Amino acid sequence: MPAPHRHRGLSPSGNRPLLSHGFDRLAPFYGLLERCVACGLLQRVRLEWIDSVQAANVLLVGEGHGRFLAPLSNVLPQAQITCVDASRGMLAVARRRLEKLNPSAIDRVEWIHASLPDWQPPPSTFDLVVTNFFLDCFDGELLERVVGRIAVGSTATGQWILTDFAMPSLALPRLAARASLWTMYRFFRATTQLPARSLDYPAPHLQAHGFRNTQTRVRLWGFLTSQLWRRVPSPYRG
Ligand SMILES: C[S@@+](CC[C@H](N)C(=O)[O-])C[C@H]1O[C@@H](n2cnc3c(N)ncnc32)[C@H](O)[C@@H]1O
Repeated sequence: MPAPHRHRGLSPSGNRPLLSHGFDRLAPFYGLLERCVACGLLQRVRLEWIDSVQAANVLLVGEGHGRFLAPLSNVLPQAQITCVDASRGMLAVARRRLEKLNPSAIDRVEWIHASLPDWQPPPSTFDLVVTNFFLDCFDGELLERVVGRIAVGSTATGQWILTDFAMPSLALPRLAARASLWTMYRFFRATTQLPARSLDYPAPHLQAHGFRNTQTRVRLWGFLTSQLWRRVPSPYRG
């Protein structure tokens, strides 16, 4: 794969090389891992809103192995897509998947090897932002900064597809979710140096940047959620 680049966006770290990224180690097995643990369920959740969005410029953050990118490139055949990931290995897997499933879309995709919140998107550029199982990599102040960075790139009326784990409200599913999350966070912290220790909620941070939740679908009693958010234009935001 040609060297990924960063020309549409700035990294305050300038030319400092990115730290080697823990997800590189998992990249070759990530798809298999997903199939073994979740069968097709995660993919169904990722694709929940794919037919409901229209966009000319799409930002996929932490896209990983590209299971959303390939169908998105079919559904939005004119869209320019920017794919940002801190793992070179994941970007390579996503690119190979797209070359196989929709090779004519390759020229519409910009691959950026960069890490949030260091990476800064070009302001007010993307009318659709997608974070699938990405924001759960962060908690606390880091989560707030990552959401803030992504929001900079959204247009004044931009949409945001947010797919992630959440805590069910019913007691038994909640217990099962706690056990699954405990195992997942330990696994990912050991294998990828994940910064988050536990699941945090990005919703207040999206709201702080002018996004409103317009649709939500849940599966597994609320353990998996897929949400569509839209930014409400504000005279006070650039
Ligand atoms: C849990 S995986 C999710 C992958 C994919 N979006 C999915 O739906 O399964 C998280 C992805 O985010 C990337 N990532 C983690 N931390 C990142 C950061 N700080 N900046 C950019 N990408 C990051 C990882 O390399 C990985 O590809």
